[in-house]
Amino acid sequence: MKDAPPPHLFVVFGATGDLARRKLLPAVYRLTREGFLDGAQRVLGVARSTDTDDASFRALAREALLDAGVPADELARWCDECLYYQPLPGAPEDHAALARRIEALEREHGLPGNRVFYLAVPPKAFPATIDGLGEAGLNASPGWTRIVVEKPFGEDLATARELNDRMHRWFDEEQIYRIDHYLGKETVQNLLVFRFANMIFESLWNRDRIDNVQITFAEQLGVEGRAGYYDGVGALRDMIQNHLTQVLTLVAMEVPVAYEASAVRHEKIKVLRAIRPIRRSDVVFGQYTRGRVQDQEVVGYLEEPGVPAGSRTETSVALRLEIDSWRWKGIPFYLRSGKRLPRPVTEIAVTFRSPPVSLFQSMDFADLGHDVLTIRLQPDEGFSLAFDVKRPGSPLVLEKAPLEFRYGQAFGRLPDAYVTLLLDVVQGDQTLFVHADEVEDAWRLYDPLLDGQTRVRPYPAGSWGPREAEELLARDGRVWRTA
Ligand code: BG6
Repeated sequence: MKDAPPPHLFVVFGATGDLARRKLLPAVYRLTREGFLDGAQRVLGVARSTDTDDASFRALAREALLDAGVPADELARWCDECLYYQPLPGAPEDHAALARRIEALEREHGLPGNRVFYLAVPPKAFPATIDGLGEAGLNASPGWTRIVVEKPFGEDLATARELNDRMHRWFDEEQIYRIDHYLGKETVQNLLVFRFANMIFESLWNRDRIDNVQITFAEQLGVEGRAGYYDGVGALRDMIQNHLTQVLTLVAMEVPVAYEASAVRHEKIKVLRAIRPIRRSDVVFGQYTRGRVQDQEVVGYLEEPGVPAGSRTETSVALRLEIDSWRWKGIPFYLRSGKRLPRPVTEIAVTFRSPPVSLFQSMDFADLGHDVLTIRLQPDEGFSLAFDVKRPGSPLVLEKAPLEFRYGQAFGRLPDAYVTLLLDVVQGDQTLFVHADEVEDAWRLYDPLLDGQTRVRPYPAGSWGPREAEELLARDGRVWRTA
C-alpha cells in the first residue's frame, strides 16, 4: 500500500476541454470521494477563455461530473471548495500571472508547493505551454513539481525527440509523466502479475513453447467526429506506436529486478531495442469503406464529416514483427488495430506449439494440439485457456474446451484508467508511465513506415480489415485467432 499523497495543487491546462470534462475531473473527484487524497488537493483549471471565472468553471465541472455519472451528493460542496480557474489567453505575461495565482492559492490553503501540471491540450500547444512554465520558473517549487503529457507524443521520431529535448530543457525525466492510458487499465497491469506471479505460465513463455502471439485492438466505432485530429495521423500513430506497442513490451519483457519504475521501464526498452526492423511487406494498411456494423449501414472513412477528399489515412493496420532475443528469436508477433471492425475487442492470443508427434494426427482436426491462451483486456475482461479434451463416447473425437477467468465475476466493476494514473502521479510512481527512451525507441520502429509509401487497402466497415491482413498470416500458415 502506497502512502497517501501529500497536499498539492493540481493544475489542468485545457480545463474546459473534452479530456478534462470526461476523464480528469471525474477521476480527481472519485479519488477524493474514495479517500485517497485526504481532502488535501486543490484544482486550478487553466484555459484560454477570459469569460470563464471560478464560478462558471465550477458550474461547468458540476455538469461534467454529473454527465460522467458521479453521485450528486457532496458534489456542489467539492466544486466550491476545491476548484479554481485562471485564464491563459495567450498574452506574454500570462504565465507570470499564473505563477502569482498558484502562490496565492497555496498560501490561502496552506499547501506546501507540491504541484502537478497536466497538459490536456492539443499537441500543437505543448511547446508554448512547456516553455511558458519554464520561463515563469514554474518548473521548480518549494515542494515537488510534476508535469503530465498526453499522447500523441510527437508525430514521428524527429518531432518526439524535439519534444523530449524541450521538456528536458526545463524538467528532469523524474518530473515527467507521459500518459498512455492503456497502462492504467487493470487488465494491462495484470499482465505483469499474471506472468510473474504464476510460475505455471512464466515457464512456458518462450520460443520453445510458444508458436506465435497475436495482439488485436479492434474498435467498432469510426472516427466519431474526430477527423480533424485523426486524418493525417492514422492508426499507426494513434494506436500502434503507443498502446499496442506498450502492451507488446509487457507481454515480451524479461522479469524486472523489482516492481518499480526504473526496473520495469528498463525491461520494456530492451524489448523495443530487440525488435527487428519491420519490413514493409509485413505491414498492411487499410481504410474502411461503406458497410454494415451491427446491422447498421455506416459510411466509409472518405465520407465521414471533415475527412478531405482522397485522404490516404489508414484506419487499420496489421503487421508482423520479430524480437531478436534469446526468449523470442524466430517467433512472430502479429499486431492488428482498426476502426469499424465487427466488434470492440482488445485481446492477446498466445498460441502454444503443438506436440512434436501427435497420437491423434489421423483425425484431421485443424487446431489439434495448439492450446491457446487468450487474455482479454476489454470488454469482458479476463482470460481463457483453450485446450483439447476428448468428447465423451465413441469414436474418439477431440474438442477445444476453455478454462476461464472473468474479472467482472470475480471483482465487479474495474476502476477507470485515469483514476489509477492520477493517483500514481501524485504519489510519484512512474511505473505506468512512458520513459523518454521508450517513446523514441517506439518511433524508431515505425518511422520508416510513415513515408506515405505504404499502400492503403480498402475494407468494408464491419469486416476484420483488408484481405491482405488475412494473407499476412496465411503466408505463415496461420489465421487470426480473434474473429
Ligand atoms: C485513443 C485513440 O488513444 O484510444 C482513439 O486516440 C481510440 O482513437 C482510443 O479510440 C481507444 O481507447 P479505449 O480506452 O476506448 O480502448
